[in-house]
Amino acid sequence: MNPVSELIKDLADQHGRNRHNLLPILQGVVEQEKYLSEYSMIEIARELDLPASEVFGTATFYSFLEHRKMGKYIIRICKTITCSMKGKNQVLLAIEDMLKIKVGETTPDGNFSLLQTNCLGFCHKAPAMLVNHEVYTDLTPERVSEILNSYLKKK
Ligand code: FES
Repeated sequence: MNPVSELIKDLADQHGRNRHNLLPILQGVVEQEKYLSEYSMIEIARELDLPASEVFGTATFYSFLEHRKMGKYIIRICKTITCSMKGKNQVLLAIEDMLKIKVGETTPDGNFSLLQTNCLGFCHKAPAMLVNHEVYTDLTPERVSEILNSYLKKK
């Protein structure tokens, strides 16, 4: 069995095959695969006996469910107003400069993808970003390069 099909079957066993369980299953696939391929969405539709259009619709509604292959570490920098006012642009430039990629791109070695996101709920400590599930706040260009260097060492 294809490993993705196997993963989807396991997630469906775990969460149930009801349409209410669609979101945790989609999230489970993104967690493992780092994105949702067309193949995964069709497999989920088959496993849950739902129209593929419903799975595609749900998947495209949530911006956290990626449809492109993503890097090992997904950086999501907040683009909402408080972060923008508190220096998000300089932080973003520092990231782009360091990784040599623009928003929406992935480094050629597949380690980092850079995305922007809406408010992360850490406005009181803006600017903020996520690296996978880790939140980083009070960012400055210096601090962000230290953070990314720590990931570069980990990889
Ligand atoms: Fe960026 Fe709220 S505006 S965390």
